[in-house]
Formats: sequence, structure tokens, C-alpha cells
Amino acid sequence: MAPLRVVITGGAGQIAYSLIPLIARGLVFGPDVKVHLRLLDIPPAANALAGVAMEVQDSLFSTALEGVLATTNDVEAFTGAQVAILLGGFPRRPGMERWDLIGKNAGIMKRMGELLETYASPNCKVVVVANPAQTNCYILSIYAPSLPRKNITSLSRLDHDRMIGMLLHEANSRLISASAANGTECVRRLTAADVRGACVWGNHSNSQVPDVSAVEFFVDGRWVPIESVIPDTTWLGLANSLPGGGSIGGGAEGQSLVEAVRKRGAAVLGARKLSSAMSAANAIAEHLSDWLSPEKSEHSPAVSMGVTTDGNPFGVSEGIFSSLPVRCTLGGDWNYDEGFSLNDDVRRHLEASVAELEDEKATALKMLEKAEAAAG
Ligand code: LMR
Repeated sequence: MAPLRVVITGGAGQIAYSLIPLIARGLVFGPDVKVHLRLLDIPPAANALAGVAMEVQDSLFSTALEGVLATTNDVEAFTGAQVAILLGGFPRRPGMERWDLIGKNAGIMKRMGELLETYASPNCKVVVVANPAQTNCYILSIYAPSLPRKNITSLSRLDHDRMIGMLLHEANSRLISASAANGTECVRRLTAADVRGACVWGNHSNSQVPDVSAVEFFVDGRWVPIESVIPDTTWLGLANSLPGGGSIGGGAEGQSLVEAVRKRGAAVLGARKLSSAMSAANAIAEHLSDWLSPEKSEHSPAVSMGVTTDGNPFGVSEGIFSSLPVRCTLGGDWNYDEGFSLNDDVRRHLEASVAELEDEKATALKMLEKAEAAAG
């Protein structure tokens, strides 16, 4: 079978550097799927890109990787692409919000849309990571009108995984303290497979809505509601911050879970002086393998994905892209997970996040119009 053509933009960047080994080891598209990687970056990054290609060769990734093309020619990179991982764009710097990137990245997304429309496979599957990710999906959809809207997705799995990581941190410390207090044997540590029902709704921004209302943990051989392990409803709820409590769940001092998840990208950026890269690459790998790997998608759990809102059953206004709960199905498709319902709190917060997405869309459209008028 011909190898799967996968284009990665921003190929010389930090996220690509962590993502390429995951793909090349067969952990993303399945161990039996051969991949031809097309790494694209802008001409000033050509040397760094060539260095990445040298390292790929030196890593002897023989199982899943059929070949690598490192190029600054976007047409060459996108020709025949069956999967596009769009990392390339201006990154956020400390003190910026993702929204501040609309003007800088709208033109790049326009070009990506044109390339997808003209050169990629007509059924190319796309994940947008460059921020503001959901609004970038919208821009792509305008300039790649032939691409099915369901094929254009954005990464909200990083927010989803951040929430699960914080829940696990908190649940495990409570279970371990409880077993120590009872003098019982140390309990088995919970892992991500022991959590279900998590969802992040809305924008990949400070307005996102991490929702634990349907979360359950697998403890002692059965699924139990979240409150039976973490009874602290103030920390779990949509309140903006704890009145004065200590740090729990791995967030900063006094932060609720929701605030900690919303601000995790900024916290990593503040600490590293660079955006999340390892965790972003891991989340992209999970997003793509749940969606496209023949093994994973057969047993797909509900996951958060940035997807089109057209026809959604949750009452989110149509015509934008938003993080919603979905289940992936074999053959690279996904469906909204109608098992999720919104409680009043979640709905109210989601409305604010959707209003922000609509504002971003209007701003992006204005900027593109201005750029087109200036270009004559
Ligand atoms: C993240 O959430 O880590 C990314 O969107 C990068 C950023 O600027 O926060």
C-alpha cells in the first residue's frame, strides 16, 4: 500500500521535534501504516529543518517511516497530502493572549486553506494547532471550500488532557492519604484509563469550559462518580477561584480546577519562556490516533475535539468551530457524543466562550478583507 502522506507545517519547531518520533515509531497512525513525512517550514528556518531531517535519518526509525521530505516549498509539501498537521504560525509570547495572534496568523491560514484546496488529497484530514486554533479552522474552511468541514479539526485534546492530569493528581493524593489514614495497603494509582466522562467545551482560550459533571473514576473494580473521590465541589465547580484555599490538583495556589486548566498554557509559557511542546505533541498524537488509527478508533472513548458546530446537538450556534465531545469511528470519521448534556452552569459559561469565538471570527474576517483590499 502507498504510504500515508503527512504534512507537518512548522516542521523545524518545538512541537514538531517532539511529535516526529511518535509518528515515526508507529504510535499515531498505527504500527502497520507506513508514513511519508513532509516537513515544511519558512525559508529562514531552512537550516534548522535540514538538521531535523538529518536527525530523523540518524534515528533509524525503520518501522513506520517510509521517507521524509524537508522543504520550504509549500506546494511540494502539500501535494497529495492525506493528513495535515498545522503547527506553523506566530507563537504566543509571555503576556500575550492567543487572541492577539489572529492578525498575525490569519494570512498564514488563508494560504494553508488555498494549499489544501488545490494540492492536497480531496479527503485530507486536518488538525490545526497554531493559535487561535478554532478560528484558524474557520479561516481554512473558507479557503478550502471543497474540503469536507468534518475533516477540519483543532486541538483541544491538550486542554482535555490537562484537566485529566490535574484530576488524577488530586484523586491519587486523596486515595493514598485515605488508605494511609485507614492503615490499609496503598491503593493502585489511577491512570488516564481510569477516568471517563471528561469534556472541555468552547474556545481554546481563557473562556474554555472544562466540565467534570459527568466524570467517573474506576476505583476498586467499579466506576464511581467524581465526588466520591474528590468531594471538594468548590474546586471542581465553575467558580473562578477558591476563596482562600491551598493549592490542590497541581494548579497554582488558590486556583480552582477550571482556572488551572484555562491558565495552564500561560503557566507553561511563563515557566519555560516557550509554549508547551512535549504535551502538545502528545495531545496531537492522541487526537490523530483516536481519529485515524484503525486500532484506536474502533474503541474510541469520548474525547474533546475542536470541530465544526454545523448540525451539533448541544445548541451551540452554527458556522464556527468549537471544542465539543465527540467519538471517533473507524475509517476516520467522528460523531458528536450525544451522551453529554450541559448543566446550567456549563451552558452559561459555554455561551460566553461561543460569543468569544464569534468575535474572533468577525475580527479574522475583517483582517482578511483589509489585507485583500491592501493587496489590490
Ligand atoms: C497551549 O495551550 O499550551 C498552546 O495553545 C500554546 C499557548 O500559547 O498557550
